[in-house]
Amino acid sequence: MMERKEALYEGKAKIIYATNHPDEYLVYYKDDATAGNGAKRGTIADKGVMNNKMTAFFFDLLAKEGIAHHYISMPSDREMIVKKLTIIPLEVIIRNVAAGSLAQRLGLEEGVPMPFPVIEYCYKNDDLGDPMLNRYHIRAMKIATDAELDEIERMSLKINDVLTKFLKTKKVDLIDFKLEFGKDAQGNIILADEISPDNCRFWDSDTKEKLDKDRFRRDLGNVEDAYKEMLHRLTGEA
Ligand code: TMP
Repeated sequence: MMERKEALYEGKAKIIYATNHPDEYLVYYKDDATAGNGAKRGTIADKGVMNNKMTAFFFDLLAKEGIAHHYISMPSDREMIVKKLTIIPLEVIIRNVAAGSLAQRLGLEEGVPMPFPVIEYCYKNDDLGDPMLNRYHIRAMKIATDAELDEIERMSLKINDVLTKFLKTKKVDLIDFKLEFGKDAQGNIILADEISPDNCRFWDSDTKEKLDKDRFRRDLGNVEDAYKEMLHRLTGEA
């Protein structure tokens, strides 16, 4: 029987607990939402439940395509048991269409397709505001080796392929998304964190309506409805 023990880490949207199993953590998904590195705060009703379910759904989908991930089981609507990993402190961002900070930085109109998936890295460090890194920085800082980065990029592009094709059948465009990876005791690279409207941009394929956290970030309204709509399109759940 899995027991929840002490909290090890509280992030903006999740709490990580120890369990009675030494190789497993429990992730608790909160309804709290932040944007702009904590500058904007709020809650999105039942976000924790919906993100937990959507993440489990995507991880199951990816496992069928050979992607190793940390998800083990879902003991409750807001809780996920995951494999204990050493998290690599990188945010790996994959972009299919210009939006958000890329559109701003390069002066591109939001919605312009990229000719191929563009990968970016940010250093997970709140005090520094998660600065962007390139492969030289990552190597110099000893955040990951080149071989590890090659594997991270291979997995990220495969994940992008699987998710893009699947979401197309649900009339959703995958604009961009953020992944995190960890290493297991054997040094294998494993997909971690979550895949949800918090860390992906999802646009309705026909109307281009935003079905993701940009509705919160940009005060567009109908935030809960967007998460519910994504959960419904993925799992059929009302
Ligand atoms: P950006 O356009 O703000 O850089 O975001 C790109 C994608 O990555 C978008 O889907 C949101 C996601 N993301 C996170 O999940 N966490 C972050 O800290 C950042 C910067 C982006």
